[in-house]
Amino acid sequence: MSVFMPWSDEFVLGIASIDAQHRWLVEATNRLYEQVESQNPDPKVVGEVLEGLVDYTMNHFILEEELFHRFDYPETPEHKQEHDRFTHQAMHLLLNFEGGDPVSEDALEFLKAWLIHHILRVDKAYVPFLKARGVV
Ligand SMILES: [Fe+2]
Ligand SMILES: [Fe+2]
Repeated sequence: MSVFMPWSDEFVLGIASIDAQHRWLVEATNRLYEQVESQNPDPKVVGEVLEGLVDYTMNHFILEEELFHRFDYPETPEHKQEHDRFTHQAMHLLLNFEGGDPVSEDALEFLKAWLIHHILRVDKAYVPFLKARGVV
């Protein structure tokens, strides 16, 4: 099976803690895909991976927003709005799954597309600002 979401150097922002978390998110997305697309997906394992991914994502958003707050990043409201919207969708997916719906291919594609867009456009936008304030 080919990798659903291959890591790309384009995702590297040059801020170590954030890059490590993005890498984890991409890996967890791949784990989720592998579970969902396997011959006999085990709902227990899918649930664990999905829950881990949702949890980790929330923590990642908190880290970014904490940095925005610390340095008074001017794009905070728009950025936070993207995080909040995604959190809402991820919770929805998790609740539906817990209610018995399998994780769909569409949901996986949405997750991948969101991550790519968010890292390459929205997260990348804060890099010069944070780097200028000594965040490495
Ligand atoms: Fe972000
Ligand atoms: Fe991020």
